Amino acid sequence: MKGIVLAGGSGTRMYPLTLATTKQLLAVYDKPMVYYPMSVLMLAGIRDILVISTPDGVPALRALFGDGSHLGLNVTYATQSAPRGIAEAYLIGADHVGTDDSALILGDNVFHGARFPTLLQETQAKIDGCTLFGYPVSDPGRYGIAEIDASGELISIEEKPLRPRSDNAITGLYLYSPDVVDIVRDLKPSARGELEITDVNQVYLAQGRARLIELGRGFSWIDAGTPESLLAASQYVQVLEHRQGVRVACLEEVALRMGFIDSEACYELGLKMKSSEYGRYVMDIARSLA
Ligand code: TTP
Repeated sequence: MKGIVLAGGSGTRMYPLTLATTKQLLAVYDKPMVYYPMSVLMLAGIRDILVISTPDGVPALRALFGDGSHLGLNVTYATQSAPRGIAEAYLIGADHVGTDDSALILGDNVFHGARFPTLLQETQAKIDGCTLFGYPVSDPGRYGIAEIDASGELISIEEKPLRPRSDNAITGLYLYSPDVVDIVRDLKPSARGELEITDVNQVYLAQGRARLIELGRGFSWIDAGTPESLLAASQYVQVLEHRQGVRVACLEEVALRMGFIDSEACYELGLKMKSSEYGRYVMDIARSLA
């Protein structure tokens, strides 16, 4: 399975924070925002990852991840010259996806919850069409909303509905069969001039090939795209990390636990950052799992 992190956009809801920097590089507590979606793909076992960003964002993200080999990954980059919609990731990333299944994740989405890695690994083994992840929200009018029937079947998807039929928001993690590229190629831009991911999902729904996995209340999903949600995400991660003594989305740890790198390589990565608590945590983890 191939991975795509979509980390472009204009970040206008964050101005002036994002006037001179890429939103996905802003801090969510102790690490750049983009580490969180990156960790999700890695936990799903995905090592071949395309990072898509703006013309200014790509060099900055390249400086952060390089070719990914230090984490046992193959990270490549592509530019989205203007924010022409989330679904455009599949025009830009068509060659990257090739004939494989893929996971697309938005660069400002923070997911955290027990057994998420297992869920991801189980889910990706049985993709036919699209698999979406739903999360209950208090303000459904702001999201793409999924309705499911009594048997759990996905029956409707609506973008920012005036009268929402449920509170199940569709989160920024999408798993697709390889034909997603053909579907996006046939798509027309919406009234706001974007290639809408909701329109892609509607095609699969009409074919009876869309399913929704409910993440449920025990889970956390934060779209860190506004100053308030950025702070909320930072506070969430801070509380969790201090209470539990573990780190969320520590890429070096994830790479080690997934078997992408060995403990020696992990230790070296920590050593380079030994002045920070994060770096010392990486060294400790490497020692304890050696
Ligand atoms: P949004 O938060 O909807 O858009 P944005 O990041 O441009 O921010 P704002 O609304 O404040 O102007 O985008 C969700 C995610 O998808 C975010 O990580 C940016 C990314 N994105 C792209 O990379 N390209 C696009 O064309 C769009 C629409 C979004």
